[in-house]
Amino acid sequence: MTVESVKPEAPLVPELREPPRVGGGVPVLGHGWKLVRDPLAFMSRLRDHGDVVRLKLGPKTVYAVTTPALTGALALSNDFIIAGPLWESLEGLLGKEGVATANGPRHRRQRRIIQPAFRLDAIPAYGSIMEEEAHALTERWKPGETIDCTSESFRVAVRIAARCLLRGDYMDERAERLCVALATVFRGMYRRMVVPLGPLYKLPLPANREFNRALADLHLLVDEIVAERRASGQKPDDLLTALLEATDENGDPIGEQEIHDQVVAILTPGSETVASTIMWLLHMLAEHPEHADRVRDEVEAVTGGRPVAFADVQGLRHTNNVVVESMRLSPAVWILTRRAVRDTELGGYRIPAGADIVYSPYAIQRDPKSYARNLEFDPDRWLPDRVKDIPKHAMSPFSVGNRKCPSDHFSMAQLTLITAALATKYRFEQVPGSNDGTRVGITLRPHDLLLRPVPR
Ligand code: HEM
Repeated sequence: MTVESVKPEAPLVPELREPPRVGGGVPVLGHGWKLVRDPLAFMSRLRDHGDVVRLKLGPKTVYAVTTPALTGALALSNDFIIAGPLWESLEGLLGKEGVATANGPRHRRQRRIIQPAFRLDAIPAYGSIMEEEAHALTERWKPGETIDCTSESFRVAVRIAARCLLRGDYMDERAERLCVALATVFRGMYRRMVVPLGPLYKLPLPANREFNRALADLHLLVDEIVAERRASGQKPDDLLTALLEATDENGDPIGEQEIHDQVVAILTPGSETVASTIMWLLHMLAEHPEHADRVRDEVEAVTGGRPVAFADVQGLRHTNNVVVESMRLSPAVWILTRRAVRDTELGGYRIPAGADIVYSPYAIQRDPKSYARNLEFDPDRWLPDRVKDIPKHAMSPFSVGNRKCPSDHFSMAQLTLITAALATKYRFEQVPGSNDGTRVGITLRPHDLLLRPVPR
């Protein structure tokens, strides 16, 4: 056999490609200025450049994933973890030992501890609280008065999360303080994450003082809740009891700091996301009265005219589709990030160890390649015979994989119930001074939605 006759073996792993670089970056800032100036438009256009693309953010190369299939592959792969500058600044403010920022065995253990409180069969136990809060929300409003949707949505979201997961009568008063603290913390946190001007945030300016006070109060409140539960000697079947009784890998009780950080790590994503989604639902009810009427008709057909109850939620198919469609067009979580822990690949593109990756559920969920009449509000696209046309992972508002939101059932139940309660009691109109433009922060929400409820 001559050397010439030996055929080179086909490589087992196909050659990986370098993701295309997106043009239009400027010196020093790269694409950063576009991302800051109009992040939603910027993220939505990236698919035109490729399935995986490279961006320059300042001196750093960041990878963006633009197709539903590859965002699913990213979320499901063990080659990527939660890490990076955004997460580090979050840890600095909210604590380093919570589930939302942990990785590896600690994250798996923490998920095992919290998961039972969110399982589908655990949700009915929260039904009466969700019901009470949904109706209390509409009963607080006087017909014709202007409602500030930001504070009202925050209030109901925090109250439901706190009362369901950290049960106890004392929560009623605490929930109010939590609302104020969380709303202020979220306002300041996004700025600190995207514009990390370290020392400037320490200056004794009114905005910094307000932020620091709210952050301190949030941590103090959580300490008070934990201490009071311990002092009461009660062990209701809830998330807080699960945390207080949890043990670590060695069978020892988990530390005080971890209990504290866990409560913070669950309350913070649990309030801002739900509150933002409720704001968009209120906006949708005001802007699409025909859909509001359909929701009302469905609810009345199911309830026969009595106040909607938690037990009705399962029968409210159309209302559920309205919630999903609203979350598609106006997702609370609009951007997610990961970091590669090893040299790896996505869709045949090379991703080096240490690379930061971003993707935008907002862009994915509005993509015309995935959705016919992509910008139209059409809840019927979620009917069984049409839903099959939607590509896998083109609608994963709670994500997939090991970081999937534990609260998907908990969230959908309360959002459907609240939408049903709102649409049966009122029609809504925007009032002068209302600003329903999209405000980009840690979540997406209307800037300052002001509505007038008109009794039906
Ligand atoms: C994680 C969305 C409500 C607690 C996540 C993630 C998404 C998400 C997309 C994954 C983040 C990632 O992949 O990096 C939402 C939406 C909600 C919602 C759209 C409501 C509309 C809630 C609520 C709670 C909650 C009510 C708790 C009361 C968490 C926690 C994590 C998480 C603890 C971190 C999970 C982990 O890293 O293992 N959420 N969420 N979320 N969510 Fe939610």
